[in-house]
Amino acid sequence: MTALDRIEAHDKLTGRARYAFEYPVEGVAYAYAVQANVGKGRVRSVAAGEALGLPGVLAVLSCENAPALKPVDDGELALFQSRAVSYRGQLVAAVVAETLETAQEAARLLRVEYDPEPHDVRISTGHPTLYKPDKVNPAFPADTEQGDPLGAFSACAVQVDATYTTPAQHNNPMEPHTSLALWGDDGRLVVYDSNQGASMVRDTLARLFDLDSSRVRVVSPHVGGGFGSKGTPRPNVVLAAMAARVTGRPVKYAVTRQQMFATTGYRTPTIQRLRLGADAEGRLGAVLHEVVEQTSTVREFAEQTATPTRVMYGAPNMLTSHRLNRLDVPSPSWMRAPGETPGMYALECAMDELAYATGIDPIELRIRNEPETEPISGLPFSSRNLVACLREGAARFGWADRVPMPHAPTERRGPRGRKLVGMGVAASTYPGYRSPNRASARRDPDGRFTVRIAAADIGTGARTTLTIIAAEALGVEPSRVTVEIGDSDLPRATVAGGSGGTAGWGTAVVRACEAVLTAPEGVEVSVDTAEEVRAQEKYARHAFGAQFAEVEVDADTAEIRVRRMLGVFAAGRIINPKTARSQFIGGMTMGLGMALMEESVMDGEFGDFVNRDLAQYHVAACADVLDIEAAWIEEDDPHLNPMGSKGIGEIGIVGAAAAVANAVHHATGVRVRDLPITPARLL
Ligand code: MOS
Repeated sequence: MTALDRIEAHDKLTGRARYAFEYPVEGVAYAYAVQANVGKGRVRSVAAGEALGLPGVLAVLSCENAPALKPVDDGELALFQSRAVSYRGQLVAAVVAETLETAQEAARLLRVEYDPEPHDVRISTGHPTLYKPDKVNPAFPADTEQGDPLGAFSACAVQVDATYTTPAQHNNPMEPHTSLALWGDDGRLVVYDSNQGASMVRDTLARLFDLDSSRVRVVSPHVGGGFGSKGTPRPNVVLAAMAARVTGRPVKYAVTRQQMFATTGYRTPTIQRLRLGADAEGRLGAVLHEVVEQTSTVREFAEQTATPTRVMYGAPNMLTSHRLNRLDVPSPSWMRAPGETPGMYALECAMDELAYATGIDPIELRIRNEPETEPISGLPFSSRNLVACLREGAARFGWADRVPMPHAPTERRGPRGRKLVGMGVAASTYPGYRSPNRASARRDPDGRFTVRIAAADIGTGARTTLTIIAAEALGVEPSRVTVEIGDSDLPRATVAGGSGGTAGWGTAVVRACEAVLTAPEGVEVSVDTAEEVRAQEKYARHAFGAQFAEVEVDADTAEIRVRRMLGVFAAGRIINPKTARSQFIGGMTMGLGMALMEESVMDGEFGDFVNRDLAQYHVAACADVLDIEAAWIEEDDPHLNPMGSKGIGEIGIVGAAAAVANAVHHATGVRVRDLPITPARLL
């Protein structure tokens, strides 16, 4: 096992690593966007005279003059293509100017008039638009039904029937979405852009601007976080490209933190009803998981919230379903482990409730319900080590010291007041996706190797991990390998998403390296793994984990502090322990934030999220996390890929919020089912 420091660490710390907005370019202009200030309706007129009169203003863009774009799947990218306003905060116009300050001031002077219509932004289980989507992301059936779920549930000796809600949450990467676009004299478009996949952004821009893909280049060597929000192109990159074309100048556009809340996606709120029926020994006879979530009128986004329930526990009678509200809201999108994160919050809290209802230890309850094969598909697991994670975690965390439940809250008096202390556990899971990729490799005259693939390092350590993978396949030291990523001119690659980067890119890197070993020096050998990935045999591939949390709750103020968190994961072979640990504890920290802090508050009358910055949307910071640790069980799974790895980018968040929520319940005896668990909800 090679523990390698990040290859670009020094560049990042010294400021040498360039992010999209930082590229120096001659004659650059700046764009600033104007957002709709009605919840729904139509743009009646755009009066640009005053804005255009400001010295330094180069152009105003809106539905009244924007160049036509070709349609693509994502309606959010049809920038200024119609007068329709689909939600408050939608981009309706932009100013391009010599400086950012001029563009901002001119945007303020722009007079956009609207014909408003009534909007509806409130999710509910009885909403008139409630409908069943054809599929949920990426391509799962919306519903599954096996046996007689309702009949079996009502016949079960022990029943849990509870509804959980999770709010909208926003990705807040350190680097907001930024783009710098340049059109060459040859009509070629070059974009420096902050994204999770340069090939994907290139293809989308080519379609929108009706160009051959070879006429577009997207450069993104360093990206300051994404978490899913940069996994699909956003209007910002379209705006930069459009503004550059109209003005004939290179144009930079950076989405502000405030603008991110309406324009770069968010996690859908969910309303989840869980019914778990078991016998007196805790063996599940029926599992029903019914989800209501939201989408926009612009683009259907159907999050796969109940799909982890199809993976987790064996029950002869099972029902899972997804229903959407179509609302006048920005389109929801990916946020770290979309689906699994809210879904496992509800399932794993319900399992905790079942543990109390049956009087069985929560770990033992989960072990009793381990399935032989994947519950709905019946496929064998390529490997499944949830039980090992639970046992290892219990030993490390000191689970045996936990006061058996149910119990009266234990009050500890200390210098900081009266504290109630509790421990919680939850399971986690995430699918092991695989995807076709291309890569190339070349042996250089100095005995070094160059490996090329349009992969993305969004702060995960992907560049470093791919270097280790290449070095192992070549049988050389990592210091002799240069891995080039983050450029759409490199061999085509899938996005950094679905925790599938290492598996998908790594497979192509291994095959390219194997091929180059027998190739002459200086020859660039290219491979494509499409066939290899398609020919995979039938296994259910998932990572699993066990999350533990210990909290203290102030008996007077209900302030919650997470004293300790531990995650133990089984995710195949861990390639770089150093960056893997960061991925795990980063995910767990986000889970802590989800449990206690993060909530995007939708105002029904106003029709928008009212908290739109890091002061009002609190992301867990160092001071919120006292003691956090991740460990893993090395799996030897031959059914994955040449590296034997599962994904690790997302599983760290899955189940973490449930572990914290279960610990809060253990400490206080109060079950708060609506996230986040704030003092107001707990008191
Ligand atoms: Mo991740 S939310 O699949 O980028």
